[in-house]
Amino acid sequence: MAFTEIESFGHEQVIFSHNAEAGLKAIIAIHDTTLGPALGGLRMHPYSSDQEAIRDVLRLSRGMTNKAAAAGLNLGGGKAVIIGDPKRDKSEVLFRAFGRAVESLGGRYVTAEDMGTDVNDMEYIFTETGAVTGIDTSHGGSGDPSPFTALGVLQGMRAAGEVTFDGDTLEGKRVAVQGLGNVGYNLAKLLLEDGAKVVACDVDQDRIEAVRAELPQVEIVKNEEIYGVDVDIFAPCAMGAAVSESTIDRIRAKIICGAANNQLDHDELGAELMRRGVLYAPDYVVNAGGLINVSLELEGYSRERALRLTRGIYYNTMKILRLARSEGIPTNEAADQMARQRITSLGRVHNSFSRFRHQRGSAASSSERRISRS
Ligand SMILES: NC(=O)c1ccc[n+]([C@@H]2O[C@H](COP(=O)([O-])OP(=O)(O)OC[C@H]3O[C@@H](n4cnc5c(N)ncnc54)[C@H](O)[C@@H]3O)[C@@H](O)[C@H]2O)c1
Repeated sequence: MAFTEIESFGHEQVIFSHNAEAGLKAIIAIHDTTLGPALGGLRMHPYSSDQEAIRDVLRLSRGMTNKAAAAGLNLGGGKAVIIGDPKRDKSEVLFRAFGRAVESLGGRYVTAEDMGTDVNDMEYIFTETGAVTGIDTSHGGSGDPSPFTALGVLQGMRAAGEVTFDGDTLEGKRVAVQGLGNVGYNLAKLLLEDGAKVVACDVDQDRIEAVRAELPQVEIVKNEEIYGVDVDIFAPCAMGAAVSESTIDRIRAKIICGAANNQLDHDELGAELMRRGVLYAPDYVVNAGGLINVSLELEGYSRERALRLTRGIYYNTMKILRLARSEGIPTNEAADQMARQRITSLGRVHNSFSRFRHQRGSAASSSERRISRS
């Protein structure tokens, strides 16, 4: 691999960090810092090979560049992975060693939670560096991002609904929610409050029982039935590639709008959905609420501001849907185009990176950031 692969993804910098005593094998990928520091979560996973970990971190960090740019944030794209089993290999020393690696980048990369890591891990990292978000509210952090992600998806749905059904209300619309986890559950709740009807599924029976108890209005169907249900909107909120060659024929909804990352198995499916008259609200545009929320930690967290910016996903989605319509291009292409254009045009005038360093301090003040663990 090395430079050929890094070059093909267009990364600025990829760092391999090793600390035998801590058991740390980490890769930090900084894709693009044109708009600001590269913010992206830390994934911990028992990758079967170094190559698999490299591919994952390169792919994920590139996705973050577009996501931050399309959300209107002054942030670049980055991501990190720790090769290890989150059930077995977590320790204070591991995350503090990772924190030191992040600190050595001087604010070019800012980490956060992702699959396999949680708020406690972020707090260990915080003892070594200020370049971390997703810490607990008791320490001035932003807490659980899922309700914000769900709110953003709802806003995206309202915009897509206005374009498709003439009216931004979801009242009376039927929505299929695939996955009733942190985001799916919150989304189902918001949809019911909006007067929509919710059909949902989950592979985890405990989740289903919890939703049955708390939201009895939700109609539960078997996992394999979720694609074929007669609904207006399909909301993938579980794993990636929900829209693939094998599922696309079964989808009956007029709109696809959900929280899952990488919903299209490959990019050409965007054009195929357009041909079929299905409106796809691009995943990284509508699921940016969590990123918006966490990013506000860098300037002093405000829940009100996070809510206001997340509501803005309605206008952002609308802009992309209109661009797609006027240019006659698939919505996923319109989103990429808008993100790239923002990076190009703002690239020369923004210097949020230095602003971030000013706000969060450097290694010299790390002792002041030491926090008590509750
Ligand atoms: N949490 C956030 O703020 C956030 C932000 C952006 C994107 N996302 C993406 O949204 C998706 C959901 O995130 P989450 O935080 O709710 O995750 P989660 O793990 O809490 O929930 C996922 C749910 O999907 C279920 N599931 C898994 N495979 C399934 C299948 N084949 N069919 C039906 N259900 C299935 C799981 O049992 C689980 O309940 C993920 O793809 C995530 O990457 C989440």
